[in-house]
Amino acid sequence: MQVSFDFTDKIVVITGGATGIGRATAVEFAKAGAAVVVGDIDDRAAETVQIITEAGGTAEFVRTDVTDDASVQNLVDVAVEKHGTIDIAFNNAGVLPPTAPLHEQTVEDWHRTMGVDATGVFLAMRHQIPVMLKAGGGSIVNTASVAGVTADPGMTPYVAAKHAVVGMSKGAALDYATEGIRINVLAPGLIRTPMTERWLDDPEIAPRVLADSPIGRAAEPEEVAATVLYLSSDMAGAVTGSVYRVDGGRTAH
Ligand SMILES: NC(=O)c1ccc[n+]([C@@H]2O[C@H](COP(=O)([O-])OP(=O)(O)OC[C@H]3O[C@@H](n4cnc5c(N)ncnc54)[C@H](O)[C@@H]3O)[C@@H](O)[C@H]2O)c1
Repeated sequence: MQVSFDFTDKIVVITGGATGIGRATAVEFAKAGAAVVVGDIDDRAAETVQIITEAGGTAEFVRTDVTDDASVQNLVDVAVEKHGTIDIAFNNAGVLPPTAPLHEQTVEDWHRTMGVDATGVFLAMRHQIPVMLKAGGGSIVNTASVAGVTADPGMTPYVAAKHAVVGMSKGAALDYATEGIRINVLAPGLIRTPMTERWLDDPEIAPRVLADSPIGRAAEPEEVAATVLYLSSDMAGAVTGSVYRVDGGRTAH
């Protein structure tokens, strides 16, 4: 079944849209008629904008560090100044710490991971929600991970940060459930993006990570994007506070 979404006149803010899942989602929203504002620390977000505008869509890049409250405020301000409001937010920026057991993780890597993956989502919602309250509603999708609902060895800071994203999404969903703001959270498993390509392209590591994948392959960023569009659409109705596993369940850990 082919479902097509119509986001004409909708304003979408996406963090972490320079590459991977964020870029694919920005492109899919734009194809469906939305104006997309991409916040990222990486200048490759300009390429995302170029892909969209060359295809006739509307997008802009606002250089944003999601760990910095003023920078996130600026992203939201620019979107509102330019388009009047924000209907949909996809808070997706993330980083992975080096793979190591907890006692070998540095304090810097702990703070970097918590800063981008957890605090970044909190700051984004903190600034987006007042705009949505003023507009009478909206939809927020946050990117956690399968590591937000179970654990993987060697990445405790990431597991902690992503559990925080699941927790803050559920909490915020309850805060605004009667205000017309739906807040859901993605728990992707293995998706082929710049974050995971080094595993998938390594003949020794790839079989191990793929053995853990319920669908027997890495999912594509566009498959995650389709879930974000669904959750951001009227079709999702009263769906809020839900955790979506994108490539199937996994119970091994
Ligand atoms: N790829 C996977 O298998 C997978 C699985 C589960 C969850 N995720 C999550 O999906 C999200 C997207 O990751 P991806 O796989 O597309 O990888 P990616 O590296 O392509 O995308 C991450 C994006 O976040 C941006 N970013 C990093 N730090 C930032 C900061 N301080 N401010 C603003 N932007 C910043 C990066 O520049 C990049 O554009 C992340 O939250 C990641 O943890 C990915």
